[in-house]
Order: sequence, then C-alpha cells, then structure tokens
Amino acid sequence: MKARYAAMRKIDNENRIWPSAKITVSPEWCAVDLRDGNQALPNPMTPEQKMEYFKLLLDIGFKQIEIGFPSASEDDFQFCRDIIEQNLIPEDVTISVLVQSRKHLIERTIEALRGAPRAVVHQYIATSELHMKHVFGMTREDVMKTAVEGCSLIKKGVQQLKKEGSVVGLEFSPEEFSDTDIDFALDVCHAVVEEWNPEEGEKVILNLPMTVERRLPNEYADMIEVFMRRNKYPEKTVVSVHVHNDMGCAVAASTLALMAGAQRVEGTLFGHGERTGNLDLVTIALNLEYLGVNTGLDFSKLDRITSIVERVTDMPVHARQPYSGQLVFTAFSGSHQDAINKGFSKKNELIDTFGGWKIPYLHVDPNSLGRSFEKFIRINSQSGKGGIAFVMKSSYNIDMPKWAQIDFASTVQHYADTQARELSSEELWDLFEQTYLKPCTLVKLNNYWPRPDETNPRVINGELDIDLEGKNLRLKASGNGPISALVSALRMVPELPDFVLDDYYEDSTGHSADAQAVCFVKIICGSDIVIGAGVDPNVNQAAVDAVFSAINRIVTINE
Ligand code: KIV
Ligand code: ZN
Repeated sequence: MKARYAAMRKIDNENRIWPSAKITVSPEWCAVDLRDGNQALPNPMTPEQKMEYFKLLLDIGFKQIEIGFPSASEDDFQFCRDIIEQNLIPEDVTISVLVQSRKHLIERTIEALRGAPRAVVHQYIATSELHMKHVFGMTREDVMKTAVEGCSLIKKGVQQLKKEGSVVGLEFSPEEFSDTDIDFALDVCHAVVEEWNPEEGEKVILNLPMTVERRLPNEYADMIEVFMRRNKYPEKTVVSVHVHNDMGCAVAASTLALMAGAQRVEGTLFGHGERTGNLDLVTIALNLEYLGVNTGLDFSKLDRITSIVERVTDMPVHARQPYSGQLVFTAFSGSHQDAINKGFSKKNELIDTFGGWKIPYLHVDPNSLGRSFEKFIRINSQSGKGGIAFVMKSSYNIDMPKWAQIDFASTVQHYADTQARELSSEELWDLFEQTYLKPCTLVKLNNYWPRPDETNPRVINGELDIDLEGKNLRLKASGNGPISALVSALRMVPELPDFVLDDYYEDSTGHSADAQAVCFVKIICGSDIVIGAGVDPNVNQAAVDAVFSAINRIVTINE
C-alpha cells in the first residue's frame, strides 16, 4: 500500500557532531517581518505601519532587516525609497530586498536601492525537484543557469551602486533547500559564489530555507552540518537558516541548525509569515539569552513590542505564545500558585542556592521582559488558597493566616464555579467584603468600653451594648484583654450559639497614616470552625469586628 505522504530524501550524516554542540555565541539576526511577514498578513501593513514596524525593529537592535520585495510591489519599492531618501537607515544597519533571478526584476531592485548606505540583494530560486520540474518545468541545468545569470546581472547592477558609494552584498537562497538534493544545493550555491566572486573580506550569505517544514529538526540540522562540511567557500560565505513552522518545530529546527554550525538566522517577531509562519525570533532569542548567550536584542519591553505588532499586523499574539503571550506568566491552578508564592517569598535565597534565577513554574524572570508580577496569579475555580492569598496580599496588602486562607478559598471556589469564568481581583475583594465584613447581622455592636480593672490593671472589664435582632442588651464581663472580655460577655447571651475563640491574627495593610488594621479570628462552635475578619483604622475595633463577623457567620453557615 502506498504511504499517504511522500518520504523525504535521506540525509547521510553518520558522523554528526551537532548533538553535543553548545551554542555560546549569538548568530547574526535578520528580521524578515517586512517582507515574508507582511506578504502573509490578511491586511498587509500600510506604508505608515511599515515605517513604525521598521523603527521598532531598529529599537530592538536588529542590524539586518529585509524590508520588502520592491520589484514585486509598488508599496515595497516606495518604502525602500522612503527610508533611503529620508536617511532613516542607521550606519550600522543593512537592509535587504528580495528578488527572483529575472532581468527586469533585478533592474527594478537596483533602482530601489539607489543611494542606500548598506544593502543586500537577496536572490532566490527554487531547487527542489517538486518546484523545478513540476512548478517551473525546468531541469537542474536550467535552474543552475538561471541562478548564475541572475547573480551576474545583480553583480552588474551592484557595481553601479558601489560606484555611487553604496556597500551592497549578495544573499542567495536555494528555495525549498530542505527538500533539495544536497549535492545540487551545494553545486548551485558554489556556482553563485564563484560568479559573485566576493571581494577580500566580503561574504556571500547562503540562506538555506526550510520553505515548508517537511522534516524534523534533527534532519534539518543534519543537512546544515553536511552543507557546512562540504561548503567549498567557508571563508567567503555566511550560512543562514530560514525556517517556516508548518510542523510547529521552527524554533527547534533553527536551534539545532545553530548547533550544527549555522551562523545567521532569519525570522519574524511572533512568527508572522506564510501559513503557520516563520521562526519566531522572540522565542529563539530569549531561549538563547536563557542559555547565557548575549543576543544583542532588547526584549526588555516585550509588552510594548507585542502591542505594536498586534496593532500594525491586525493580528493578536496568542495568549500562550512563549514569552509574549498574555498567559505565559500566569498560574491558574492552586498547587502552581502556591509554589510560585513560596518561590517569590524566598527569591534571593533560591538565587543563592541555585546560582541564578529559579522559581517554581517560571523559567525566566518576567521582570526582565518588563512584565509585571501581579499578573501571575489569576483566580478561577481551579485556584487554591495560595493563589487567592497571593492576590489578597499583592492587590490589597492583606496577609491572611493559613486557616483564613482555607476558609476563604472554599468561598471563592464555590463562587467561581457558579460563574464558570475567571474572577478579577475586584471581585475577590467584593467576595471578601460580603463574606467577612458584611455578614448577616444577627447581632450588632453598638458600643464597647473595655477598661483596666482598678485593683488589677492586667484584668480588663468590658462593658458592651449590643443589638440582638432588634433587642438592646447591656453586657459586662472581664478577661485578660479587651477581646477575651468581649468573648466572655457574648458567651453569656443564651440566644447566641456557644463558641470558643480558638485563634487570633492581626496585621496592618501598611505603615502610612491611612493604613488599616486587619484582624482574623477563628472560633469553634460545636463541630463548626468559623472564621471572622475585621478591617478598621483602629486595631482594637478591627479585632472586635472580627469577633462579631464570626458570630454572625455561624448563623449563615448553619442556614
Ligand atoms: O521561505 C522561503 O523559502 C523564502 C525564500 C524566499 C527565502 O522566504
Ligand atoms: Zn520564507
């Protein structure tokens, strides 16, 4: 039976060494967003948007930028003219433009580049059997001849540009390289380099595209390693990779290609490009930074970069896109939230122990990308006490004791279940308020006068005025503090359930004049554990409110 999909050509590379290679130096980067990325947008960028994108790429630190296909698009031609005529290309930046091996297209391309300080003409021609024979109806010899003739025409045009003061180089791509017989790819590349005949110190970029991702990353790495081993002109060339993401492995394929020796990488921010897109440069660059490689690219304001690219491309970045997605520094599940919470509380100790950033569930420091800590923990029905406590602390500066966390988590989870969605931190506060600060009012405190005993000031005599379902009561009792006196008095009221105060916790929301005291109490009433809370500028009042909150909640809980 025939296989569903054609097998790929086998790569012989028994002596591969790339699997144990380590990437220690940064590749050269070329951003192809304005060409490969733009050609695949449902709404291609306007000239103004292209300009904004170009400046963004410069801000990030790209020194090589493919700006378009001027012979194929009037807009691209004009954009090329605009950035040259308005002197917008920094001295250390090289622009490149794509062109096919055809005379009239090459002439138009040379015209587009007139006056450019530094540029590269990027010539391409497909070299796979599929394309040569079945798309173009060409033989290998035809393709070889076209590539060399194209190169010769480019060389002529470039000589003129050079006379006018421009520095112009050549990039050559055997399109569909990963589906090309490697001997033939090498022959075409060698022939082009020979035709170009680079000057002393000049290098031709040999860009080896995985135009359609039809192979696994290890096979592509094998191809790159074989190509590099057999490249006759290593001193005169830079080997570059250009990987599309049809199998979702573009980052892996490009990374393994770097291990195999590739020196230059093409891609786009967030992987814009034909079909599933190109290699995502943000991911690969930040992965390399994670491995300790200085890439020269600045993604420290990633949110800004993301929002500009989303706006000008009119396409959202996926919420789970590595590094840049909205959710990548967010934990929903309770156990993750708890671990992150613990990790942050001992961040410096962990850095000392492990010799660098190490926090559970977060492989990089979001701060280094300009992303904020508050967004880490989001609350839904899967959230646990740790995450909820983290949001209460980070959003409201309220530290909850563990027993209060457990109690509040069950309320939050129940509510989130009924809503079947994520809860905002404002909703969390509303729930806290409804649950503890405004419970049903069986019993209300009108006034409380705790006074030290005249003979033994360690004893507090409490006198209180309460409203019990509309009935006014005056109570008196003593204790070793205002709260124990209050509790003793309330325990004497037969209409109230019998309870004991089991635990007490007090804290403050800050140190400034408008800081609030926050108190939590845990009372035991029969088999029920009931938590109460109070928030007030005065710590004694917050404690009293916490006791009344708990007593009133007994009624709610038993309803
Ligand atoms: O994907 C590809 O092969 C290309 C070439 C034109 C370099 O974009
Ligand atoms: Zn491409």
